[in-house]
Amino acid sequence: MNKIRIAVLVSGGGTNLQAMLDAERRRELESGQIVLTVSDRPGAYALERARQAGVPALEIGRKACGSREAFEERLRAALAEAGAELIVLAGFLSILSPEFTRDWDRRIINIHPSLIPSFCGAGFYGLKVHEAALARGVKVTGATVHYVNEIPDGGEIIAQKAVEVLPGDTPEALQRRVMEQAEWILLPRAVETVCRERIERIP
Ligand code: GRF
Repeated sequence: MNKIRIAVLVSGGGTNLQAMLDAERRRELESGQIVLTVSDRPGAYALERARQAGVPALEIGRKACGSREAFEERLRAALAEAGAELIVLAGFLSILSPEFTRDWDRRIINIHPSLIPSFCGAGFYGLKVHEAALARGVKVTGATVHYVNEIPDGGEIIAQKAVEVLPGDTPEALQRRVMEQAEWILLPRAVETVCRERIERIP
């Protein structure tokens, strides 16, 4: 069975990448195959997770490249060499250019740790998202998988999963619950759905 070739872009610990790798191993990600991981930050543990799973792991330091253009030129070359057909942003912190997202229209998906349109957009990433949710006093938060376009966290929503906010939650405790109960479940399922829909559309 032909599978959609997936490149996963990371910046940090890689727990969302790990959820995808585990799903692939458990045959819950059957319509896609992770063929490449790229980190824009040196030393991201996510790359170690990829190596342990036998997946090619590439570091393209965003700062070392100097400009976004130079970074994206190297990224494009790596994606082409790997024959990537779908990009998954999993804890990836760089903002891709409008040109790049246009060239990859509806072929980049992202996991965001809130129920978009709440607590998203420029400046909302990592713990900051959960700090804002707690400051606002929401009783429910969660995670969203969406297509990536030129607006940060602005693309079409693919899937969402809600998580309860508990009294006394710290940002760290809430982040952990959102990861465990939403992100790590939602992302592999959403990637499988997107890949399967693409395969079914192939004439
Ligand atoms: C998590 O908060 C995730 O929601 C966001 O990036 C953070 C780190 O993710 N997308 P990971 O552990 O590197 O996958």
